[in-house]
Amino acid sequence: MDILDVIKSRRNIKKFKSDAVQLDLIYSWLEAAKMAPNHRMTEPWEVYFVGPDTRAKLNHKTNFGNAPVLIAVLSKHGATAIEKEENAMATACFIQNFNLAAWAEGVGTFWSSIGITAKNREILGVPSNYDLIGVLGIGYPEIIPDPKPRTSIMNKIKNLP
Ligand SMILES: Cc1cc2nc3c(=O)[nH]c(=O)nc-3n(C[C@H](O)[C@H](O)[C@H](O)COP(=O)(O)O)c2cc1C
Repeated sequence: MDILDVIKSRRNIKKFKSDAVQLDLIYSWLEAAKMAPNHRMTEPWEVYFVGPDTRAKLNHKTNFGNAPVLIAVLSKHGATAIEKEENAMATACFIQNFNLAAWAEGVGTFWSSIGITAKNREILGVPSNYDLIGVLGIGYPEIIPDPKPRTSIMNKIKNLP
């Protein structure tokens, strides 16, 4: 797939096959993810692989679509409020890089914001100086949803004088 096909065909996957995803592959997608833009090279992201005991405590309603792998992606705060915000943006770029790299090799992700509650932050052991940007289920898709309708980009463009 060329890059536009990867971007346009990616979906948030809600139901996964039980097939394992090789750890080496996941590491290679994380290596691609780390090339994300980040202001002042703060590289604010950290990745926790969520083991079965921790995952059970999260008590997610679909168990993340039964994804065989679950990661939490954290973003370190900066020295200022602006840096904290920019770091969170950079980590979102990191996640999307990861999502696209995985998708290009047939693996889907389920981006869940379940982790943002205080209780789930505690379960995941997120330090107070980190944001939790997403919890990602990772696996081979059982179902690939149809694309969700999007507003024409022409409605989102403004030409300034
Ligand atoms: C910051 C963020 C948080 C999200 N949290 C959830 C979530 O908690 N549960 C969920 O089902 N999808 C979540 N999603 C995925 C979106 O629902 C999904 O991307 C959107 O419906 C569009 O679908 P698509 O990605 O397949 O095009 C999240 C996406 C982002 C960017």
